[in-house]
Amino acid sequence: MGDFIKQDVCKQWVERDKKVIAPCQHLSYFPLAVDRAKDSTVVDTDGNEFIDFLTSASSLNLGSCNEHITAGIQEQLAKCTQYTAAYTYSPATIEYAERLCSVFPGRPAEDVRIAFGNCGSDCNDAAVKFARAYTGRRKIITFINAYHGSTYGSIALSCVTTRMASKMGPFMGDIYHFPFYGSEAPDMPAEWYVKEIQEAFDTYLPAEEVAAVIIEPVQGDGGLNLANDKFMHALYALCKKHGILFISEEVQQAFWRDGHWFGIEYFDGIVPDGVIMGKSVGASLTLGAFMARKDIMESLPAPAHLFTLGGNAIACAAGCAAFDYYQTDEFQGILKRNERVMLELLEQTMADHPNTIGFIRGVGMSRGLAVVKKSEDGSMEADTTGTFKIVYRSYELGLLMISVADNILRIQPPLNITEEELRRGFAIANQAISEYEAGEISDDVLVNQAGW
Ligand SMILES: Cc1ncc(COP(=O)(O)O)c(C=O)c1O
Repeated sequence: MGDFIKQDVCKQWVERDKKVIAPCQHLSYFPLAVDRAKDSTVVDTDGNEFIDFLTSASSLNLGSCNEHITAGIQEQLAKCTQYTAAYTYSPATIEYAERLCSVFPGRPAEDVRIAFGNCGSDCNDAAVKFARAYTGRRKIITFINAYHGSTYGSIALSCVTTRMASKMGPFMGDIYHFPFYGSEAPDMPAEWYVKEIQEAFDTYLPAEEVAAVIIEPVQGDGGLNLANDKFMHALYALCKKHGILFISEEVQQAFWRDGHWFGIEYFDGIVPDGVIMGKSVGASLTLGAFMARKDIMESLPAPAHLFTLGGNAIACAAGCAAFDYYQTDEFQGILKRNERVMLELLEQTMADHPNTIGFIRGVGMSRGLAVVKKSEDGSMEADTTGTFKIVYRSYELGLLMISVADNILRIQPPLNITEEELRRGFAIANQAISEYEAGEISDDVLVNQAGW
């Protein structure tokens, strides 16, 4: 086994953190205190450098301190940081809204309106408010293993770990969770994928009382799982039949993370009624947005949904700069190359570790590798301990990567990472996997385990 990294200063920060920050605010994998970061490199307070495969939980699609975004922020800073858009009108906010409405999947900008918030969670809440107001119905359908956020509303929509549900109830009512069918679902007739929902409609959940379905086209924290195509189309058809709004939850996967503006664009013919955004919508700053059909967005009177700093100028200026860069040939060329190289590297990793890597998940630059234990008969089970050891050893070797859904290595580098860094990141992950296979990673590292 190679060198261990220096952690002295980082550990001091961890100790200070424990004295002031509530423990529920960390899903910690390793004692990493970020000192600075640029593009695809993160540097901790001990001076260790990491290749970034986490992108601040997919909130830095163009990496840290991206030059275009920094220039946009600086230009706005020269005018003002923000002035509340609740009582005044904010040019940067309006300019960003115009851009976002113009890329609503399948609808012209003039049929779309947007409401800004502060993060992904409150924009999930927004979707529920607007859906209920517009339809006059109360019930909402979401999916098992989906994470929608940490406000009271979005926790109620989520269904990913009981640690987010215990001790805090009662939550917002009338939420119903159903199975999500992703890449491992068997090939069945379309109706099969919505049989649980249909059964509910036939027995205890009147379809005419359901306001909306909120679904991630690629479940993020649920395991980077692209929804099954037939499932999505069957669900969409059910929504159309019963006048239920179809809302695409794009907080983690939008902004080219999975190869399009929005993950829903993977599914031909599905035109969502609303789109929920967070994370990279703020291009590194805190922001959220919910956009939907104009008639839906006009269903709530002022001040039913506004925040003092929601859609603040500085985050919207950052968003505009990122948006404009996404449109360039330069970015699109880099993205296509990285998607190709990444797939090649994922496949090579699986080929090199056939007994440890069970399958590849996700699309584009939003990928997962499943760490498994295989039996002689070819069956496999999730290897949660192995996953953590690989994550921790990768960190020691200079790769910042975490896991989701117990055993899925979460691989979401900056979309514009250089090819050399992408390859170096995979080389580190491969070394960690090899050391794990050779039994060289001590159980001692498991004390750091406090993930999902
Ligand atoms: C799919 C999804 N929705 C919502 C959220 C919540 O976003 P935020 O933490 O910005 O409130 C997350 C965060 O991980 C997410 O992945």
